[in-house]
Amino acid sequence: MSVQEQSADYEAIIRQYEQLTDVSEVILGDNLHVGYWAGAGDDDSMQAATDRLTDLLIAKLDVRPGGRVLDVGCGTGRPAVRLARVRQVEIEGIDLGIHQVEKAVARVREEGLDDSIVIRHADAMELDYPEESFDGVWAVESLPHVPDRAQVLREIARVLRPGARLVFTICVELVPTTGEKREFLDNYYRTFNASYPPIESLPELIGQAGLEVVELMEIGEHVFSRTMAAVAKGFRDAADDLESSVGLSPQRTELMARSALAFGAMEETGYVVAVARRPSA
Ligand SMILES: C[S@@+](CC[C@H](N)C(=O)[O-])C[C@H]1O[C@@H](n2cnc3c(N)ncnc32)[C@H](O)[C@@H]1O
Repeated sequence: MSVQEQSADYEAIIRQYEQLTDVSEVILGDNLHVGYWAGAGDDDSMQAATDRLTDLLIAKLDVRPGGRVLDVGCGTGRPAVRLARVRQVEIEGIDLGIHQVEKAVARVREEGLDDSIVIRHADAMELDYPEESFDGVWAVESLPHVPDRAQVLREIARVLRPGARLVFTICVELVPTTGEKREFLDNYYRTFNASYPPIESLPELIGQAGLEVVELMEIGEHVFSRTMAAVAKGFRDAADDLESSVGLSPQRTELMARSALAFGAMEETGYVVAVARRPSA
């Protein structure tokens, strides 16, 4: 399926991401993913915490200097820049949002990393790379938004070299929910154009792509409450700007802020760092 053939829902997901990218970057310290705090006494800034999550993923991906990495849903590129600097690897970053791609390209140029990072507008559903092209792939918070996670994972497995790792992060449902909580989650998914799988489905999802599970780390208690509190405050602070710049009504912004707060307080949801590998030949 080409980008043009995707459904209207899919278009909406991508458009929403483009619209919220600028405000999200401000809230999340220039990254587009959650922060990681060690515990209650850790009062690191949002940028330090979101970079710390990136550092955890860099360690889990464990690619050697000179290796080639695919960043699926690279957003505006801060994680890729950090990975390239820390590990001296070559990176291909792809994203379906034109706005994110433009910002990522500008960032890479400003950082003087044109020789090691290439950013492209492309769809994770159909990777146009030959088999066994990469020594590592990561997908940081991009899988909640793709129309078919199994298809994307199969594509990733295809382009990984034997023995190479995939690291992805995703919010999950820790336990089945019913009643009001189920209704809240379904509404949340509609509000944020996302869906989160049950945690117990991850091994099968990874396995059906032909990958082996190395590790599944559930780190919700380290990421959610502070990230979601900051997201809610950030949306509220930016409500006027969001209305004038991208036409988001104040009511919609308030709905997003409240939803983020309520989601951050839920015990039934978690955040998983998944580490998988393509079996060695
Ligand atoms: C939460 S952001 C994370 C960005 C970046 N990985 C980071 O951690 O800063 C998710 C990104 O995935 C991108 N995305 C969603 N669906 C995609 C797809 N099918 N192909 C490529 N990118 C996609 C979105 O456009 C968005 O920029």
